[in-house]
Amino acid sequence: MYYDNFFDTYLATLKDEGRYRVFINLERVVGRAPYALWHPDDRAVDEVVVWCSNDYLALSQNPEVVDALVSAAQNYGAGSGGTRNISGTAHPHVMLEQAVANFHGKEAGLIFSSGYVANEATICTLAGNLPGCIVFSDEKNHASMIQGIRNSRCEKHVFKHNDMADLESKLKQVPLGAPKLIVFTAVYSMDGDMAPAAEIVALAKKYNALTFIDEVHAVGMYGATGAGASELLGLQHEIDIIQGNFAKGFGVVGGYITGNRNLIDYVRSAASGFIFTTSMPPATAAAIMKSMDLIRDGVALRDQFWQRVCYFKQQIAKTTLPYRETQGHIIPVVVGNAALCKEICDRLLYEDKIYIQPINYPTVPVGQERLRITITPAHTNEHIDQLINALVRVYQDYQLSQAA
Ligand SMILES: Cc1ncc(COP(=O)(O)O)c(C=O)c1O
Repeated sequence: MYYDNFFDTYLATLKDEGRYRVFINLERVVGRAPYALWHPDDRAVDEVVVWCSNDYLALSQNPEVVDALVSAAQNYGAGSGGTRNISGTAHPHVMLEQAVANFHGKEAGLIFSSGYVANEATICTLAGNLPGCIVFSDEKNHASMIQGIRNSRCEKHVFKHNDMADLESKLKQVPLGAPKLIVFTAVYSMDGDMAPAAEIVALAKKYNALTFIDEVHAVGMYGATGAGASELLGLQHEIDIIQGNFAKGFGVVGGYITGNRNLIDYVRSAASGFIFTTSMPPATAAAIMKSMDLIRDGVALRDQFWQRVCYFKQQIAKTTLPYRETQGHIIPVVVGNAALCKEICDRLLYEDKIYIQPINYPTVPVGQERLRITITPAHTNEHIDQLINALVRVYQDYQLSQAA
């Protein structure tokens, strides 16, 4: 009885606060992006336009990527058969690790089952094992980085978001000789802004710290070859550990880190989240490599992506919608209340066949609930116009505007 009460109370609180998560049941169909079939219940099915996918370049549906996955599965089977150490290292894993290292101009790479695991396992292992290591973390870092820091039980200092004066004042408080790790994010996932990476690197040099960048929302779309913000800013060789994932720009699944040979070998040898889990299916690794080829040669795809993002930004700037101007491709449109945020998303879904997932606490702080809009090359300017018209109509109904 006690257990049921506990679960009931928790779930009732979520529902009361409008934060209960309802998963939208989608059927994404190859070739139909940005449309997907939506199953509101067992009997009905409707077509919606998806505006919150992280399949940023629509590569999950790319025929060459899908073919690579299928033919590799026919060659290698569905699963890997073990952990990396015990019979689960397949040739595509080894090739992918070399390819991702080359992609970032680093000596070595290591792949994980997800970006979450790559962050948690690497940060926890480094911060937890380097004697006396002190971590400095941007307050808007992802849950996976926060969990890695927590699990390491090291001393930590959380600096104000993108605030270099605050970071420096915190760095000054600890001995210059102490091992330090600064963890930050290339493109912040809920705000769409970018880290001042060059300034962070300069502070790291001054205070003798290692740097760790999460490039999850940047790889594929930023930089001349799609290798992320560190490539765009010419910092690939300055940042010690570049982390990314294969699920967003790459359109598949999995995570990775790249860095110098010793550091990567250390994480390979010591990280629990790498060692004690079955490796990714070799067919997945093969599909990722095809995606990487398309990204590296994907100047036209990136151009199309950024043209769409720019068009969206131009159009939304003509409205009074309470959106946040960002340097990046993610556009938050603020609501500021969990129940209202859900209601607005429901109206867009039912009235306009527009699917945007409400973003509520704990993903963002209470009072900053929002719609988080992502644009892909599959969206046309007409789709964007329809979205903006619908947003303007619904936000006006609730008198939500920039001035509000
Ligand atoms: C900034 C950031 N890092 C890491 C992750 C985790 O990546 P993955 O979805 O591959 O586990 C996410 C989530 O999606 C993220 O937004």
